[in-house]
Amino acid sequence: MGAVNMQTTWLLLLVISFSAGKTYGFSDLENFIRVIGSLNPNETVVNYLNGSVFWKQPKSILQKLFNYEGYNINRKIRQSDGTFLSLSREFVVYRQPNTSEILQVWMNPISNNANEVFNVANDPVNAHIGSATPAMPVPPSLPKFLVYNTDIVLEYPNPLQPDNYANYSAGPIYDSVELFGFFSNSTLVNASKTDSVPMTGTWMRKSQYLPWMVLGTTPGSLFYTTLAWKCSDGLQCVADDIMQIIKQNFPKYQYAPSTEEVPNETSWTAFKKIIDQRRLAGLPDIIIPQVNASSDVRDMTYDVDQRVLDILYKWPITVRVNGTAWSEITGQQGIALFDVGGYVGVDLEPLFDYSGYRLQLDGALILYNRTTHAVMQNFHNPITGRVNKVKPLEVAIDLIFRRDSFFTVDIPSSEIVGLIGAQSTDTDNGWAVNMLNILFPWQPGTGNLSSTFYGTWSSFASWPEFMVMGDTPGNIVQKLTVTNGM
Ligand SMILES: *[C@@H]1O[C@H](CO)[C@@H](O)[C@H](O)[C@H]1NC(C)=O
Ligand SMILES: *[C@@H]1O[C@H](CO)[C@@H](O)[C@H](O)[C@H]1NC(C)=O
Ligand SMILES: *[C@@H]1O[C@H](CO)[C@@H](O)[C@H](O)[C@H]1NC(C)=O
Ligand SMILES: *[C@@H]1O[C@H](CO)[C@@H](O)[C@H](O)[C@H]1NC(C)=O
Ligand SMILES: *[C@@H]1O[C@H](CO)[C@@H](O)[C@H](O)[C@H]1NC(C)=O
Ligand SMILES: *[C@@H]1O[C@H](CO)[C@@H](O)[C@H](O)[C@H]1NC(C)=O
Ligand SMILES: *[C@@H]1O[C@H](CO)[C@@H](O)[C@H](O)[C@H]1NC(C)=O
Ligand SMILES: *[C@@H]1O[C@H](CO)[C@@H](O)[C@H](O)[C@H]1NC(C)=O
Ligand SMILES: *[C@@H]1O[C@H](CO)[C@@H](O)[C@H](O)[C@H]1NC(C)=O
Ligand SMILES: *[C@@H]1O[C@H](CO)[C@@H](O)[C@H](O)[C@H]1NC(C)=O
Ligand SMILES: *[C@@H]1O[C@H](CO)[C@@H](O)[C@H](O)[C@H]1NC(C)=O
Repeated sequence: MGAVNMQTTWLLLLVISFSAGKTYGFSDLENFIRVIGSLNPNETVVNYLNGSVFWKQPKSILQKLFNYEGYNINRKIRQSDGTFLSLSREFVVYRQPNTSEILQVWMNPISNNANEVFNVANDPVNAHIGSATPAMPVPPSLPKFLVYNTDIVLEYPNPLQPDNYANYSAGPIYDSVELFGFFSNSTLVNASKTDSVPMTGTWMRKSQYLPWMVLGTTPGSLFYTTLAWKCSDGLQCVADDIMQIIKQNFPKYQYAPSTEEVPNETSWTAFKKIIDQRRLAGLPDIIIPQVNASSDVRDMTYDVDQRVLDILYKWPITVRVNGTAWSEITGQQGIALFDVGGYVGVDLEPLFDYSGYRLQLDGALILYNRTTHAVMQNFHNPITGRVNKVKPLEVAIDLIFRRDSFFTVDIPSSEIVGLIGAQSTDTDNGWAVNMLNILFPWQPGTGNLSSTFYGTWSSFASWPEFMVMGDTPGNIVQKLTVTNGM
């Protein structure tokens, strides 16, 4: 019976993929796999990560803590039911942002204690991928890119429960938000038949403090904003100092797993394993390593590529935004609240002392019902159970970015310059953290950039007034795809 069903499913899949009428007959799911990995199970794909980690304590501004650099190494294996099994490992280091040094010991500015730094070394990070979120063409009228947005609010029991791991545990619940945007050239996706196509992505995250920060229930959160891209030459793109650590201490991270092992590893479970091993061996939980002065130190400066400034200083610029808002309440599953769309005027200028940039945003965002796609007038608030009146949300804000939190990274293998931005605002009316990852593609055959840019703007903020949330804990999460192409 099972076998018969499976064959029927296969036939159905074949019929669907041929009738879709695309040039090479790839299904949406196959295209998603080509963008994030490869259809060839023998091909190992390295997706590189490069960005920054910030933190924010209540009533204080977002501060940069680390540069964050590493990779995911993966393979995708087609299953007999047409779905894909993704097998991967992840290795990421935390760098001192002024020197780029890979940190082994960190002077924690909140606790004023030294912390033993645990690299991200997660093996495995697996997933069963049964369907793809529909690709959104950007800009919609004349698509140059397809973006696959994969966004999730994670709420589950904390592997580090307070009773045994109080110093490392923010509480009984693990709470984080992961916002992925995988951008790929739509011509390449539609008109090539390769197993893998180039991808440049944006990844943002909000999470509790890392266990090794030993901050217990200290209020505050970490915010990550990271560019991600598929390496065209596999591990060749990995920074030398990271590769040295891999070769010496983590050799298996040179390969994607070939069989499924459970369960997945996260920074929390990996930390717990080490602490548990040390406790069994009668050792202290935390062992601060003796670190020799590093010779691998750079004087980091953060700049915006002049070609990007030439585009952004042109005035006026209007960007189209389109996305979704969710709730984030520790211990409750995130709820997709509404869709958001609209146009925003953008004006960038340097601060007079060159300590950063001011980004003025002016426009209006229209809220849409996610089921009916109609403009929302009455919001049936799933959290309070009340009905709230909604008007378009006016946007008239000045965002100040510090220099170390607004800069570009060259990604030559993707033929893209990426902009990373992060900032926060805090007023009596509430707080917001805004993060940007904007992609500026090269113009073919010239050293110039295309005048059309693409990317992601996410914001985490206290509940908007119209939701009348009173003292309800938590915040709203908005993830918007942006482009100045119309
Ligand atoms: C993957 O490698 C195996 C073993 O070499 C081979 O049998 C199989 O045909 C390869 N698959 C593809 C899609 O290349
Ligand atoms: C990663 O970003 C930093 C800036 O934060 C930059 O100095 C470095 O060159 C980037 N690395 C790669 C491999 O792009
Ligand atoms: C980096 O240097 C700046 C300027 O000296 C300083 O304000 C900042 O605190 C330093 N950042 C870190 C993480 O040490
Ligand atoms: C962990 O891995 C399994 C597959 O091995 C997957 O089904 C599951 O969704 C993953 N869990 C998370 C939280 O990513
Ligand atoms: C928590 O940290 C404090 C101060 O560092 C230490 O004295 C205590 O032993 C730690 N407790 C546990 C359970 O690790
Ligand atoms: C997409 O790829 C095509 C074919 O290589 C190229 O001509 C075009 O410039 C690329 N578009 C963008 C936005 O990079
Ligand atoms: C590529 O395919 C997507 C999805 O079918 C479609 O929306 C888009 O218009 C196509 N883009 C190009 C450049 O053909
Ligand atoms: C520091 O240097 C000493 C002497 O060269 C060496 O034995 C030790 O392993 C080094 N420590 C680290 C953490 O690299
Ligand atoms: C967002 O983009 C998608 C795909 O182009 C479109 O179907 C949808 O109507 C847009 N939504 C809004 C709110 O603009
Ligand atoms: C969206 O519209 C549907 C159908 O009218 C309604 O049941 C639902 O409550 C609306 N959603 C919100 C969040 O208002
Ligand atoms: C490249 O940019 C420069 C400076 O803006 C401009 O003078 C030149 O015409 C551009 N070249 C092309 C091929 O667009």
